[in-house]
Amino acid sequence: MAIRTFDHSGFIVEDIPRAHEFYETLFGARPLFIANLKTRTYDGWPIISFVEMGKHRFELCLARHPLPPAADSRPVPRIGFAVSSDALSELPQRLAELHISVMPAPALPAGLGISGCLRLRDPDGNIIELAHWEGHVPSDGRAARGAVQVTDVCHVALEVSDLPLAETFYTGALGMTFLHRDAGELGNGRVILRNGLGQLLFLEAVEQLSERSLFCGPDASTAPKVGSGRPHAGAHIAVSVADDDAYDEIEANLRAWKVTTDGDVRAAERPAGERSEYFYDPSGNRLQLIVVS
Ligand SMILES: [Fe+2]
Repeated sequence: MAIRTFDHSGFIVEDIPRAHEFYETLFGARPLFIANLKTRTYDGWPIISFVEMGKHRFELCLARHPLPPAADSRPVPRIGFAVSSDALSELPQRLAELHISVMPAPALPAGLGISGCLRLRDPDGNIIELAHWEGHVPSDGRAARGAVQVTDVCHVALEVSDLPLAETFYTGALGMTFLHRDAGELGNGRVILRNGLGQLLFLEAVEQLSERSLFCGPDASTAPKVGSGRPHAGAHIAVSVADDDAYDEIEANLRAWKVTTDGDVRAAERPAGERSEYFYDPSGNRLQLIVVS
């Protein structure tokens, strides 16, 4: 049994309105709602603003302290969104109009199904890539006038402090498929996997996770100790399975791996029977397991 998709994802930002404006102007992101503003539903968690990009929710989590500088030498973590080839070709012009710097992403190995990848940073230094995902069928719907329509999450890149262990975890516990191994962008080693839908996961080896990778849940004391940086509350990558049987199997794998877990900190908000668990991979990256049928 394997995870099927990267369902939703998010970034930590220092200014929610500024982030809204960026994502709305560039990608036509539609604001959905803001959680934890007054109700403090999840004690200790930052304000989380949900926007809709393509067919997915995207979470912008308000940082509780200044974010560490975004180093050009550290192109991970990052999230890749799929755009049509037409949208990709128009993107440099669109970004120039908005005075947003863009850079071509380093060439990827052949056979991954991703081409023409561009890389940019949001106002908080979070790295976004926009790529043509070959063979991907775009979702319905249109972006706001003038915006670049993203259709799906096509890849995710994470830092890992132990590459062989990370590969074993993602292929064994989460059932992802091995595609490729090389030196990676940082030269320390990289493994590329894919999930059931074909979305890619880039695992980039680092000696120590950067602060921007140290996402944690409501209680920083439960986050795994993976370096000297401070944990940032909030963001995570949600991985989905198709049904309860798959959830049971993945959950059993997580127990067998003795992963660090926050459980389901938002259980009180969910409809009865809806299942979810927030947990950490062996390197300390925060993930969420959900069912999307
Ligand atoms: Fe989530």
